[in-house]
Parts: sequence; C-alpha cells; structure tokens
Amino acid sequence: MAQVSELAGLQTAARGMFGERIIAWADHLASWSETADGLTCTYLSTAHLAVAKEIAVLMKKAGLAVEIDTVENVVGRYKSPAPSAKTVIVGSHYDTVRNAGKYDGRLGILIGLAVAEHILRNGITLPFNLEVIAFAEEEGVRFPASYIGSRAVAGRFEERLLESRDAKGITLAQALLENGADPKAIPALARRAEALAGYLEIHIEQGPVLLEANLPVGVVTAIAGGSRYLVTIDGEAGHAGTVPMSSRRDAVTAAAEMTLFVESRCNRPGLVGTVGRFSVPGGATNIIPGRCEISLDIRSGDDAVRLAAVVDILAEIQRIAQRRSVKATTTQALETPAVPCSPRLQEAFAASIARAGLPVRRLPSGAGHDAVMFDGLTDIGMLFVRSGNGGVSHSPRETVSADDADIAARILLDVLVNLKDV
Ligand code: GLV
Ligand code: MN
Ligand code: MN
Repeated sequence: MAQVSELAGLQTAARGMFGERIIAWADHLASWSETADGLTCTYLSTAHLAVAKEIAVLMKKAGLAVEIDTVENVVGRYKSPAPSAKTVIVGSHYDTVRNAGKYDGRLGILIGLAVAEHILRNGITLPFNLEVIAFAEEEGVRFPASYIGSRAVAGRFEERLLESRDAKGITLAQALLENGADPKAIPALARRAEALAGYLEIHIEQGPVLLEANLPVGVVTAIAGGSRYLVTIDGEAGHAGTVPMSSRRDAVTAAAEMTLFVESRCNRPGLVGTVGRFSVPGGATNIIPGRCEISLDIRSGDDAVRLAAVVDILAEIQRIAQRRSVKATTTQALETPAVPCSPRLQEAFAASIARAGLPVRRLPSGAGHDAVMFDGLTDIGMLFVRSGNGGVSHSPRETVSADDADIAARILLDVLVNLKDV
C-alpha cells in the first residue's frame, strides 16, 4: 500500500493552528450541563444527548460521515480509497463525572476531530479508514457499568449490564428504550479484529508527571487495572436518643471502619484505593443509620498487587460486619486487568515526538481509559497531554493549554500519516 508523503505530517500543520480551535470547542461543549453551575454530563441525560448532537454537527462540518449509534456513540468516518482498507479508530469519551473539568475524554475527541478535518481539507488520503469516535460513556457515574460506549464497539458489552440501575431505579435497558434505542441492536456495534488496524487515544494526563517534567506530551506505556465494587451495609435503624451505644447496629460506623481499612491497606507504592461514594439512604440527624452504601475502587499497574488487595479488603469487610452485627453485601461493578500499550504504537508516538524536537517521556496511566476495551482486539496507542493546575482532574480546576493541545494534535497527525503496516 502506497504511503502518503512524509511531508504531509507536521509540515502541513502550521504551529498553533489546532490549539485555539480545540480549546474553543471544549468550552462550547461544556455549555451543556445537568447542573446550573459546573459541568456534569452523565449518560443519556438531556445535556448528554445535546452534546452528542453537537459533536455530530462539528464532525459533519469537518466533512466526516457521521452516525450516532444505538448507545449514543458519535462516529465520524473518513474512508480510504484503498480497497479493503482496515480502520484506525481515534477515540475517547464525552460523558463526564459530576462537577467535572472540560477536557477529560473530550480533549481526545476534539484533537481527533481537528486532525481529521485537516486531513480532509488538505485532500490527504490514508491507507486506512479513519474513524473518530466520541464514546458515550466511560465514567460509570449514572449506572454501575463503565465504558458503555467503547464496550459496545469493542464487542464487550454483556447483556447483564442492561439490568444495571441508576439511583432512581431506572435500568440501563429502560434508559436506552426511552431514548428510542433498541438494546438488542448493541451486539451489532461490535467491530471485528480483522477490520481494525489500531486504536489511538489522546487524553489529558490527569496527574502531575508531565507538568513537573516540563513536557507537553508523553507516551503511555500501560493502563492500570481496576476493581470496582458496591457494598451495601445493612444494620438496624433506631432512635438516636434512646438506643444505648452498646446495642446499636449502625451501618455508617461499620462503613466508616471499612473505609479506613481500604485507606490503610492501599497505602503502599503502586496501589491506590478509594471509597468515592458513601451514602445513607433516608439518613436523618435523629435516626441511627440502618443502611449505608459505599463504593470501592482499587487500582494498580500490577494485577497481582491489586487482586491481593481486593481479597484482603473483601475479607476485612466481612470481619467488620460480623463484629458489628451488620450485614455487608458486595457486588462487583468492574474488573479490568492492567493493559499494556502496543510497542509498535508507542514507537509511532515516540518517533513523532522526537521529530517535533521534543524529549520522549514514557509514563503509565493510573486512570482507566476507553483504550482498555480494545485490548486483545487491536493494537492500542495512547498519548498523554500535560495537565495544568498541578495535574488536577475530575475537578473544574482541570486545565490544558492551547499550545499543548496544538502539539498533541500535530503529533497525532504526524503519527497517522506515517503509520506503516496497516
Ligand atoms: C476514569 O476516569 C477513571 O475512573 O479512571
Ligand atoms: Mn474521567
Ligand atoms: Mn477520561
């Protein structure tokens, strides 16, 4: 297959041409939120559906053939003239956590879009079909099912996920049906390994490594594995003024002890553990809590380290429950192994960073990414872009500079036009 000219990469993209545009698009998409202040855009909310439509508009303007699929992924396609060409996907997610920043997920979509637009406008032909996919759901905020968008495309959507319920008791199946989508059509979204030539994701680093190294971008070596659980603790509700301390079966104090154990067990190098949700349904000042629900999120780059921590934590939860005469029910919500990025695509990013005259920094990802779902299906390559503000993310203080977005876009362009062996 003939390759496009090497000159079609960095040289055709004048410095600065992508950055401001990407940041302006991110600001624009952040204008839809479920909350009056701050940015919250969870799966299939009104804001989420509006953002999908807007991404589709932007993709159409860029000249891509656009489709919003059954699970609300927005897929923009640029076909190769090459017969039986495979497909390279550039993707990331557009849903957000609550009170989010503007760049987690969306930066990667918008960089992909800016680069695809440049490729189209300049009549650059590629030996592979290029798809920019804005995945509908990655964060696992509304349903205890993360990666809904990329799972579907990677053929990893399990039917049981349709029974996951949101805080209002609505199942994922119901939410899809209400949106006019047929859950039975999800399996048809799955791609075949033979049709794919790689999956690329550009993502804000969400940490301080590149900032401290004074570098705009870095090559991701691997993505940490994660285990997520929901724990429901049932004790006995009672009167806060009359039940003696010694005879209480308080669900919150049990959950608090479990939370502190997660903190101490995970306080070692290469392992992190978080209780991010701690809720007391029907809680009131003068009621001894009868029920408490907590979430567990345990991660490590080393699967054995993570799994050992999970075993210890689940066992300790039962010990604490027994000692306090409460019942703890644990349900697994997610299990992803650590995923290495492909050496071939790491090299492609590294070579392009070097061509841009920048030092090549390699770093692992502690956060999960849609790329994980493509493990085993096609080669995965990821590029991190420097986070500002100390590297903070999952926060409105998350920030990326236009200059860094620009460099990342030019590197993606260079990687795409120089991709060999597809
Ligand atoms: C996604 O943001 C994650 O939880 O890593
Ligand atoms: Mn995130
Ligand atoms: Mn993300």
